[in-house]
This record gives sequence, C-alpha cells and structure tokens, in this order.
Amino acid sequence: MIKLSPSILAADFNCLGQEIAATREAGAPWVHIDVMDGMFVPSISFGMPVIRSIRGSTDQFFDVHLMVKDPERYIKNFADCGADGITFHMEATPDVGAVIAAIREQGKRVGLALKPSTPIQEVFPYLERIDMLLIMTVEPGFGGQRYIETSTRKIREARAMLNGLNLDTDIEVDGGIVRGNVDVALNAGANVIVAGSAIYHGDIEENTEFFMNHFRQRPEGCEELGK
Ligand code: DX5
Ligand code: ZN
Repeated sequence: MIKLSPSILAADFNCLGQEIAATREAGAPWVHIDVMDGMFVPSISFGMPVIRSIRGSTDQFFDVHLMVKDPERYIKNFADCGADGITFHMEATPDVGAVIAAIREQGKRVGLALKPSTPIQEVFPYLERIDMLLIMTVEPGFGGQRYIETSTRKIREARAMLNGLNLDTDIEVDGGIVRGNVDVALNAGANVIVAGSAIYHGDIEENTEFFMNHFRQRPEGCEELGK
C-alpha cells in the first residue's frame, strides 16, 4: 500500500495549519515532520511545541523524522507531543537496539533511517524489529536537493532482503522526490513517499492530488484519508 507523506519543511510556517489541511483535503494520509538539531545535521528546524500545535488540527499520521544526535534523549517527548511514528538515524546513536526499544515502549511505530553514504547492509540486523526503513535519497539537512541516483539500488536491495525474510516492512524514501522520478523509487520497492518541495511549492492541493491519483493507478493501490 503506497502512502504519501508531505514534508512540512517546505511549507509556509506563517500558515502551517492551513497548508497541512490542504494536503489532508486532497487525501494525503501522512504528515512528514523533519526535526533537525544543528548537531546531527547543520540546520535547525523545529521541535515539540510546533508538533503539539498542529496535532490538534488533523488526524493524519504524524511521521516524525528525527535528525537528532543521541535520539534516545527525546523519544518520550516526541511521543507525548503527538508523533505516531518515530524515525531515527542509525548513525546518530551508539545503541540502535535501545532506541528501537524506547520507541516501542511508547507504543509508537518504529522507523530506522540511514544516510546516503551508509551501506544498506548496516540495517539488516534490525529489520525484524522495525516497522519502517527510511532510505535517505539526499544528504539529510535541507529540502530542495536532487535525488541521489545510487539510492535506487539500495531500495531494491532492501526490498529483496525484506521479501526474503517474508516481511512487508514499509520502505520510505526522502529527498528529491518529484513527479518525474517517483516511479523510480516505487518500482525499486519503496512504498512511503516523502515529498517537500513537490507538494508545498505551488498549488498544494493540486500537487497532492497528482501524487494520490498517480498512486491509485498503480496495482498496489494507496492509503488515503477520507475528505
Ligand atoms: C531532508 C528532509 C526531507 C526534505 C525533503 O533532510 O528529511 O524530508 O524535507 O524535501 P524535498 O522533497 O524538497 O527534497
Ligand atoms: Zn525527512
């Protein structure tokens, strides 16, 4: 089942609530929320207060992507402010298993992310313990970058490994996904599509509808919220 997760990093924060509502109206089931700490990545975005504010206005799934050093420090905070799924970077912690356990303890969906330079084999030991694998298709830290082509092979290898284990774990792709290349990621085996600029720059409803209609036409079908 394909899911669209529009990244609010590309939204206009002066009217964030309305812009998220536009993605909801157009059927997007998820909201991708990029938390950056200025340590794991150079930039700083936003944190718990912003998530708490938007939580009251939508029932979409909150897909929180932590680009944060030592994420174990904040799992409870993000669970408490409204995350439905928490994804952390394996490069950001010395104890991946402990962070997975901490997210489970909060009853949230577990996502494990890796940077473009991290070999896909590094996540294999954790596949049975996670709900979603996030394969970064740009260097984490900024929106609006170009898709790194070598990511496609990582997606394919991860899907093959999951199939071999009989797991239907989500594979999310994040960074540089636009109308023209979304099929490359889907054909390789991704099923959760993050898009920032491709949704929030321009007509948000029309952009969301484009992706949702495109997914509906594929044999896998797609998840969406009712209007
Ligand atoms: C990058 C973020 C992405 C980013 C994607 O560090 O994790 O979610 O917002 O933006 P686009 O789709 O513009 O590449
Ligand atoms: Zn992200």
